[in-house]
Amino acid sequence: MKIISSEFIKGVVKADKILEDGIPQIAFIGRSNVGKSSVINSLTGQNKLARTSSFPGCTQEINLFLINRTLYLVDLPGYGFVKAPREVRDQLEKLICWYLFDSKYKQKMVVLIIDAKTGPTNDDLEILNSLKEHKKNIIIVANKIDKINKSVRNHQLKKISDLVNVQKFVPYSAEKKIGVGKLIGELLGK
Ligand code: GTP
Ligand code: MG
Repeated sequence: MKIISSEFIKGVVKADKILEDGIPQIAFIGRSNVGKSSVINSLTGQNKLARTSSFPGCTQEINLFLINRTLYLVDLPGYGFVKAPREVRDQLEKLICWYLFDSKYKQKMVVLIIDAKTGPTNDDLEILNSLKEHKKNIIIVANKIDKINKSVRNHQLKKISDLVNVQKFVPYSAEKKIGVGKLIGELLGK
């Protein structure tokens, strides 16, 4: 399937009727600055759909993007933003956990984005565990593979894949548009 239309609908920071409108939601989560918003842009082919920044902490709301008028891609704030003031960090992490684990909203899938060069951090593995415990339908995206030297890329990807132990695993580069077709296939069906 192809993405033929994408539009920003709304950013929310608490319970909102829009999250109950029956349109399936696919959540994008991961560490601050790992490229969640960039991955959404690369999927839709629109560079400026979701706001991105080289500074961590760019996305601070739960942003809903409507795809093909039938599906929301949900861009979340990142966790582990070490330089943010404690209160901001706590508040963002609370928002993420509430949406994923404590609210009544269900996600069709949760895309956990990991930095392919760094590999999964403790924060990544912790949230992955919670996702598994909550029986979420998980896809791992190893983003920024363009930053790994080609000679060690496969080795590094195998290491990450073994660590996360999730069947759906997509090596990706939002910047170089690598893995876009595969990820769209996983999200929307072939
Ligand atoms: P927060 O909203 O702050 O949590 O960040 P985010 O996860 O949404 O990251 P964002 O998409 O804003 O990207 C962060 C930085 O990483 C930007 O400078 C992007 O250009 C860069 N980036 C994203 N994807 C890639 C990639 O595949 N390769 C490289 N080299 N850089 C990337
Ligand atoms: Mg973002």
